[in-house]
Amino acid sequence: MSQPTLETILLTADQIRDRVCDLGRQIAEDYPESMDLHLICVLKGAFMFLADLVRAIDRTVTFDFMAVSSYAKGTTSSGEVRLVKDLDTGLQGRNVIIVEDIVDTGLTLSYLQEILRARSPRSLRTACLLNKPSRRVVDVKVDYIGFTIEDRFVVGYGLDYAEKYRNRPDIGILQ
Ligand code: IMP
Ligand code: MG
Repeated sequence: MSQPTLETILLTADQIRDRVCDLGRQIAEDYPESMDLHLICVLKGAFMFLADLVRAIDRTVTFDFMAVSSYAKGTTSSGEVRLVKDLDTGLQGRNVIIVEDIVDTGLTLSYLQEILRARSPRSLRTACLLNKPSRRVVDVKVDYIGFTIEDRFVVGYGLDYAEKYRNRPDIGILQ
């Protein structure tokens, strides 16, 4: 492997795949085919999770993308969330699941939930691959969680440090 080595691999590609399949099965069970289901991928961090998750949901789904910026270039939250790219279509009357990479302080997710709820979806849930509960500053509800992890800055499987490491198939801590 020619990518820089990570200090610790927290989650292997196999572990991630198994868990994402569980989440996909769970979501397919919770939403019968008679309900429409619309997923919203939060760019860029959740792109890989979304791609694997939709393939694990054995029913019709639609999805869309939005982008927010909450972190500058480092590893600490600025506390400020900005909408960078909006959705292509409205959410009125639809069953929506927000698909996020990680919930850390919760600021990004609570902002997203607030602005999307204002668009009158029939239902709004959230799926996060990773959860770092020790860093939470706002209470935010997450309906589907892949893994709960310690307070370490992680990269890989969509997650970056200064835009790098997103293409790693596993998740780990930087050296
Ligand atoms: P929050 O607003 O503090 O919950 O931060 C959420 C966003 O910060 C996530 O969508 C990620 O883009 C980024 N983030 C938080 N923790 C990490 C991490 O450990 N690695 C990479 N990005 C992170
Ligand atoms: Mg993100």
